[in-house]
Amino acid sequence: MKLNKKPKHIVILTGAGISAESGIMTFRDSNGLWENHSVYEVASPDGFQRDPELVHRFYNLRRQQLLSGEVHPNPAHLALSKLQEKFNGIVTIITQNVDDLHERSGSRNVIHMHGELLKMRCIETGRSLTIKKDIHATTPCPCCLKEGNLRPHIVWFGERPMHMDKIDTELHSCDLFVAIGTSGHVYPAAMFVDTARERGVQTIEINLESTQISDSFDFHLVGNASVETEKFVEELLT
Ligand code: APR
Repeated sequence: MKLNKKPKHIVILTGAGISAESGIMTFRDSNGLWENHSVYEVASPDGFQRDPELVHRFYNLRRQQLLSGEVHPNPAHLALSKLQEKFNGIVTIITQNVDDLHERSGSRNVIHMHGELLKMRCIETGRSLTIKKDIHATTPCPCCLKEGNLRPHIVWFGERPMHMDKIDTELHSCDLFVAIGTSGHVYPAAMFVDTARERGVQTIEINLESTQISDSFDFHLVGNASVETEKFVEELLT
């Protein structure tokens, strides 16, 4: 990997692949099915309207797994937090993941474009709240006190990702773009590399395998995110 110049502002986009080694299943590996339900049943506004209890059960289980003590940040998360701490410049992490493993590894100001598993949102007021316990279709909302007004603070299929203005600003001011563990199947995240590249920014992909957007990257670091991210961070810091 030979960079044109020393970067000053790095934008890092992470996907499910960075959390795979922490024991959280990636999306494409699950073949679009979860315990025989299509992901549209459990991750779309229509699905929630049709069967809110099923959707809550799905996210309750994912939240329980995240909080179980079995899931920890892996060396890839830790390497990125070290980079944020030691790099002489700006390091912005944008994640498509709804887990909190970047934060648990010490990273700051992580942009969660697809929401957060440990938050719920009041449908009436739009306010988001940190909630770690199980939620049911009849749980009263702590915000408006009405039953059935809480939904997962997650961006579902057909919904607009969060923080897009901030992300756009980052993509238009960075001088190095890195994507780690994302398949490039979901837009607009899959287009971020093109936005950066159109400005002449160098781009790096870290992934176990080549993806449908691999051609858009200048450099490919192929392997486990834990190993490749650590190596990449060491190289940048020396
Ligand atoms: N190290 C590096 N890459 C890995 C590893 C690993 N240990 N394990 C898996 N990968 C790669 C896979 O090769 C794949 O390219 O991670 C990628 C995971 O892809 P997806 O499962 O499609 O996850 P992601 O790209 O984050 O999905 C985007 O889709 O359903 C939506 O909202 C959901 O945020 C999610 C979005």
